[in-house]
Amino acid sequence: GRDLFPGRDNSKGFDLRHRPTMARIDAARDAFARHRWKGAPLVACDAAAGPREERVNPAIPSDIVGSVTWATAEQATAAAAAAQPWDASAAERARILNAAADLYEDHFGELFALLHREAGKTLLDAVAELREAVDFLRYYATQAEGGVPRGTFACISPWNFPLAIFTGQLSAALAAGNAVLAKPAEQTPLIAWRATQLLHEAGVPATALQLLPGAGDVGAALTSCPDVDGVAFTGSTETAQAIHRAMAENLAPGAPLIAETGGLNAMIVDSTALPEQAVAAIVESAFQSAGQRCSALRCLYVQEDIAEDFLKMLTGAMDVLVMDNPWNPATDAGPVIDEEAAEGIRAYVAKARKEGRVIKELHAPAPGHFVAPALLRVPGIKAMEREIFGPVLHVATFGSEELDRVIADINATGYGLTFGLMTRIDDRVQHVTEAVHAGNIYVNRNQIGAIVGSQPFGGEGLSGTGPKAGGPHYLSRFRAQPADEPAE
Ligand code: SER
Repeated sequence: GRDLFPGRDNSKGFDLRHRPTMARIDAARDAFARHRWKGAPLVACDAAAGPREERVNPAIPSDIVGSVTWATAEQATAAAAAAQPWDASAAERARILNAAADLYEDHFGELFALLHREAGKTLLDAVAELREAVDFLRYYATQAEGGVPRGTFACISPWNFPLAIFTGQLSAALAAGNAVLAKPAEQTPLIAWRATQLLHEAGVPATALQLLPGAGDVGAALTSCPDVDGVAFTGSTETAQAIHRAMAENLAPGAPLIAETGGLNAMIVDSTALPEQAVAAIVESAFQSAGQRCSALRCLYVQEDIAEDFLKMLTGAMDVLVMDNPWNPATDAGPVIDEEAAEGIRAYVAKARKEGRVIKELHAPAPGHFVAPALLRVPGIKAMEREIFGPVLHVATFGSEELDRVIADINATGYGLTFGLMTRIDDRVQHVTEAVHAGNIYVNRNQIGAIVGSQPFGGEGLSGTGPKAGGPHYLSRFRAQPADEPAE
């Protein structure tokens, strides 16, 4: 049956317990332990670039990772004018995207070093991220055939998946034959710069893929530039709303915004759940990646009959979490992305501490932008005003008659990204998964780490526009729709 699923293979990964494998990874990564990358805009126009700035390691602020020359708003506008849709055949585009995936894998040591040093990623997260990036390239390559490109897409990507989401957005746009203007997060321009070089080396033309590392002014120039035909954005709900307004004022009517935004993700653990399984899933969902995933668990509901014992187990599991340099393979959670993020999260936990709502708080290593994982008591998800993008888990309890009220409260947040359910009652699985409004629902497992091609990822309501990334419909909005074509 292999011929039925052409090119659908995901990256197989490797066994990190296998010593020779780990030795190879260490050696390849160590070769870049002191490297200083020098990133810059990669554009097909002459406009002058902006100033140069150093980037530092979030875990070790004295470690200078390199420097980046920022793009300017003028350069973004000139790059948009110079962009040319990728006119290669669909088969050729697919071949080149697959070649780029191979090049990413060939350069695993350098990409792991960048993910560690520029983004603070743990080994486990770096491996998962490279796999997801190559999965996106190969998966969208299988869909290159069919449809007409829209023209030029601005792809604005976040720092929390600086390789995977960066690559996912642009490879979707490119697979469909568009030109791409990629604006990576200002925290992680060097990873994006190196990945773009590899995409060019694989054969993506310089006019079809341009890189504009920059801050909000570069993004704003792109999303209000009439030469841009659509925007793919992953980041906060507020920024997505601002982009939507800028597009409505400046871009052609019907230019799509494909946005993946925030969430207030919940999990319900009832009294029939297997506690060991639930605790392991909760710790991963809330604290892996230091909680810096839009999919991460933020609000845990535990049925009150089991709450006391369950929280004892959960806090016990938190006690053995290792927070350290992400280069250490034993590390469970690394730093948050920068000091501004760390201070915001610490201030939020400090306020909860004053209110007597801290159930458990670990110690964070120093220096580096580490934030201690914390467990906070809340009356319910309604009391949470916003997404805290870090290792902070809120916990509430519910009575046996309150399940539907809890579901209504979860739905009333207006977000709908991920949701987890832990139960051994089959009817309840049916009932709850039908009633909860969320893009990705996970039962009796963790609620992070969607797999390209088999678990399309994306939310509803305030969490995103759809279509889901890594799914069969994602490319549809990167293509001209029949309705967009002028009437005869
Ligand atoms: N796609 C990621 C996950 O599933 C979130 O951004 O965890």
